[in-house]
Amino acid sequence: MTTSLGVSFTDDVLEARVQAGVDRVETRLQAAVNRDERFVAEIASHLLNAGGKRFRPLLTLLAAEFGDPARDEVVEAATVVELTHLATLYHDDVMDEAPKRRGAQSANARWDNSLAILAGDYLFALASDIVADLGPEAVHIQARTFSRLVRGQIHETLGPAEGGDPLRHYLGVVADKTGSLIAASALMGARESGASDEVQAALGEYGERIGSAFQLADDVLDVAADSETSGKTPGTDLREGVLTLPTLIAIGSTDPADARLRELLATPLTDDDEHAEALALLRAHPAMDEARAHVQAEADAARALLDKLPDVPAREALRALCDVVANRLT
Ligand code: IPE
Ligand code: IPE
Ligand code: MG
Ligand code: MG
Repeated sequence: MTTSLGVSFTDDVLEARVQAGVDRVETRLQAAVNRDERFVAEIASHLLNAGGKRFRPLLTLLAAEFGDPARDEVVEAATVVELTHLATLYHDDVMDEAPKRRGAQSANARWDNSLAILAGDYLFALASDIVADLGPEAVHIQARTFSRLVRGQIHETLGPAEGGDPLRHYLGVVADKTGSLIAASALMGARESGASDEVQAALGEYGERIGSAFQLADDVLDVAADSETSGKTPGTDLREGVLTLPTLIAIGSTDPADARLRELLATPLTDDDEHAEALALLRAHPAMDEARAHVQAEADAARALLDKLPDVPAREALRALCDVVANRLT
């Protein structure tokens, strides 16, 4: 099996078990979003049905391999993290005025901002309902994760403090808005499988690190990937004036040849011609390779954290996940 993310497994037994888990999570997700009346179900299932890599539930299932992966609670936890993720996508596309998501129209484009925000709230409520059955500790984990994620989105919107280091601010935002939920996906999988406290902590750390690598890669892809590949509109960060790893590196250049690019990056790029010009300049800029190297380093750091985990077949799959994240960049 190769998952929708492109992770290939070397162990047949693991592969069969993870595939069964992926299928169960899918059934559970469908049941969750389709439980209320027709229009609510339509808007809530819109992005779920549009596609998506299911990176977070896969991580939950793999982390559960360090305990008893057959527990029903593992599937519930995987469902919770994908529903929470989905909720944030509805809200993020409103914030970023993004027209496309998962190869489909975003909810804000298909309906409007109000309905997209409400659908995100609704999905979060569905996730909360499921997590409640996992007990108070799981509710704390999910609530604190969501709080951290939202704080990341708030800090991205506010931008760095006057006189603050923009790269440091950016890396903090990345860890909070994306690392947090990916860390929780791994942690909850380990926890619900009954893995030891040490294993839970190690997998949480791994999730945090691969989560940051994942967002850094996403930011490179916002510049480099075409819409066909990403399912999103290229250059959304540029249009919104959100500075990310490649743009922060390019802005730091003192080369006089970069003067035009620096000028363009100084403001949100709402003009189509200026937007296209900045995107072309950035795609050809050495900052892109520098950013890719940064992603690779982050993925390598995540991989190294796996050394302290028990040697079960899932450890190799989690290593392969690091390569998948780093190789998305091409
Ligand atoms: C998109 O996440 C938002 C980020 C945190 C980068 P994914 O890249 O996992 O999106 P889907 O779930 O595959 O659509
Ligand atoms: C999304 O960040 C982070 C969350 C949804 C919390 P981005 O805005 O960079 O993600 P994409 O590129 O729209 O998927
Ligand atoms: Mg976005
Ligand atoms: Mg965003």
